[in-house]
Amino acid sequence: MNCDKIKNNIAEELKSSKELLRALSLDIEKSEDGRDFKKFNEVVGFCEQILRVVEAWPQNKEIVFLDCSCGKSYLSFALNYIFSKRFSAETFFYGVDINSVLIERCNRIKDSLGFDNMQFVHAKIIEALPEKPVDMVIALHACDTATDETIAKGIKLGARYIMVVPCCENQIRSSLKNGHPLVDLTVFGLLRYRFADILTDALRSQFLMGAGYSVKLVEIASPKCTPKNLMIVARRKKGVKKFSMDGYNRLDEMFHTEFVLKDYFRGYDMNRENYIHFEKF
Ligand SMILES: C[S@@+](CC[C@H](N)C(=O)[O-])C[C@H]1O[C@@H](n2cnc3c(N)ncnc32)[C@H](O)[C@@H]1O
Repeated sequence: MNCDKIKNNIAEELKSSKELLRALSLDIEKSEDGRDFKKFNEVVGFCEQILRVVEAWPQNKEIVFLDCSCGKSYLSFALNYIFSKRFSAETFFYGVDINSVLIERCNRIKDSLGFDNMQFVHAKIIEALPEKPVDMVIALHACDTATDETIAKGIKLGARYIMVVPCCENQIRSSLKNGHPLVDLTVFGLLRYRFADILTDALRSQFLMGAGYSVKLVEIASPKCTPKNLMIVARRKKGVKKFSMDGYNRLDEMFHTEFVLKDYFRGYDMNRENYIHFEKF
């Protein structure tokens, strides 16, 4: 699939789709507080990264997405639009959210746009049970630990890609006050806040690496548009059969984080073949 032409033009592509923007109630030109425009830019940046990834996708192989904490599903609808209108690739989108009102709204929009290749589920991320094997687990601004649920779900499903742009991160900040080697840095409230964000995303990235993924971090939009612009892009490596959490454990022990991510794997045999089998019901 050649994405070169469209990659840089996603914004124009989406802007020109009045039907899509109307269905999503996204008013990118007139929204007074600029929130719609901000969301639009985040979605464009996320789509761009996905198109980079699917450039090398085998032809005629369906791409199955699981959009975790999909909310109003701007991201999935935009992706579906781009794929359906501009590429011949078959796609399927699952969206999951704990907010039933938003799930109903997504179902209405899906029907109005005639997107039969979408299914929205009212559930906690970790409890979602997609029928099709999932290739890409994605999440845009899944609040707090919902990003960690997304990562855990992606690993358990054996997703080929896990791509998340985290949102607020609260767990580690309060535990960073003492008893670790950078206490002279985190004594300052603002630095503690920023460092907690960095540490949280480092722990997530190390966990993914330990679970057999290669990881890179990219920015999906200008920090002027949104400070929550960091994306963790994880690609499953072939042939890795066991977890190896040395990097994660070193960070965890250094800062006494007791980070929530590992809680989703308690009682699991950290052997990939076992846990994938377990998860595939
Ligand atoms: C900030 S909104 C982001 C929504 C959407 N991804 C977007 O970018 O517009 C966070 C969403 O996460 C959902 N959420 C929070 N925790 C969740 C969980 N454990 N499982 C499923 N959804 C969750 C909320 O209901 C909310 O819709």
